[in-house]
Amino acid sequence: MDRIRIVGGKQLNGTIPISGAKNAALPLMIASLLTDQTLILDNVPRLADVAQLQRILGNHGVDIMAAGKRSGDHEYQGQTLHISAANIIDTTAPYELVSKMRASFWVIAPLLARMHEAKVSLPGGCAIGTRPVDLLIMALEKLGADITIDGGYVIAKAPGGLKGAEIDFAKVTVSGTHVALMAATLAKGTTVITNAACEPEILDVADCLNKMGARITGAGTPRITIEGVAKLNGARHTVLPDRIETGTYAMAVAMTGGDVQLSGARPELLQAALDVLAQAGANITVNNDGIRVTRNGAGIKAVNVETAPFPGFPTDLQAQLMALMTRADGNSRITETIFENRFMHVQELARFGARIHLDGETAVVEGMKELRGAPVMATDLRASVSLVIAGLAAEGETMVNRVYHLDRGFERLEDKLSACGATIERISG
Ligand code: EPZ
Repeated sequence: MDRIRIVGGKQLNGTIPISGAKNAALPLMIASLLTDQTLILDNVPRLADVAQLQRILGNHGVDIMAAGKRSGDHEYQGQTLHISAANIIDTTAPYELVSKMRASFWVIAPLLARMHEAKVSLPGGCAIGTRPVDLLIMALEKLGADITIDGGYVIAKAPGGLKGAEIDFAKVTVSGTHVALMAATLAKGTTVITNAACEPEILDVADCLNKMGARITGAGTPRITIEGVAKLNGARHTVLPDRIETGTYAMAVAMTGGDVQLSGARPELLQAALDVLAQAGANITVNNDGIRVTRNGAGIKAVNVETAPFPGFPTDLQAQLMALMTRADGNSRITETIFENRFMHVQELARFGARIHLDGETAVVEGMKELRGAPVMATDLRASVSLVIAGLAAEGETMVNRVYHLDRGFERLEDKLSACGATIERISG
């Protein structure tokens, strides 16, 4: 199993190109199931989760062609996928595939909308909490699906097709909103989703669906209206830049000090996180090529933060902020409001000598002058990268084990950081 070795203590200086967003690329690929024509996606990141979803879609009979590099392409440029679901040969998503990646459960929506049936394994729990799918099932039932659970599978049927409905989410849910949105595009009549998630990835998927002929208004706000259409077409769409990757590297620079241009980043996708970083003492400037982050000389200031749905501070940056706060001047409080168990990084950060106390859903971080490198590992993707951030600033050597978590969501992490002067390398095997 690959590991990442870091020798900490170097500043980061240079340019980091930001990849396409994993959490938009996955639902966009799933949306290809809604049409028998080809969907072309540009700027798809080269990630383990994308490769896994390619396998899952392949199982339904979807053909995917990944275009190779073209002359003039930047070395980090994402791939272009030509996805054709002309013939769906299987409407079952088996346990062996769905259990490896939660988002693959979302295939239930386009399969049900287009094929009027789907049998999808329940995704099960995961390292950051129980993560149920009750709200997704509620949304599909509102749209007229008949749903039973048998043998660990959700079996959904809508023999006459789905029908437009009013769907009010009791809790803001990204997965619920994606599923309701995709399913409603082919439902008969009008669907109104209230208390919808406003994450930029929802808007990106809605933009793509509209290019495919869907009639969606209000995406990116809590109220989305969808006029169902009989059929969707092929389209071409570019995946938006990854705001979590952007925020992660911004935190890394705030941690080590230095001067880094985050090329292709869009500040409006993570304003809350940029505001927190500025409060913590980083200088953030926006320019034509993205975002420039610097911290020279000044120390890191302690901040108190609560995670929240967009446009609030994202839960997917909570672990990285906690790593940064381990070296702040004073105590900070970080409260996780989205997932009930997203503090797996706390005990690993302690291996660097960090002092963090958990008080229910709040972590109190006692900032200290120095961290010391250590062997560490984490059980989810964002927790893993928080250990990389700590390692970049820690004295001596850090070995991050279980790198496959990082490969799920960060494209060429070690290359991007070493190009900015970090001592970081992948050790294979
Ligand atoms: C998406 O997960 C992201 N995944 C997550 O990123 C992200 O952390 C999360 O949104 C919140 O922003 C993808 O986009 C692929 P939710 P999702 O439905 O959609 C509860 C990463 O590291 N809930 O908004 O699964 C749920 O348990 C990943 O890239 C129900 O109770 O999140 C949670 O507490 C991790 N019932 C809250 O809602 C349901 O039916 C928000 O979950 C569905 C969700």
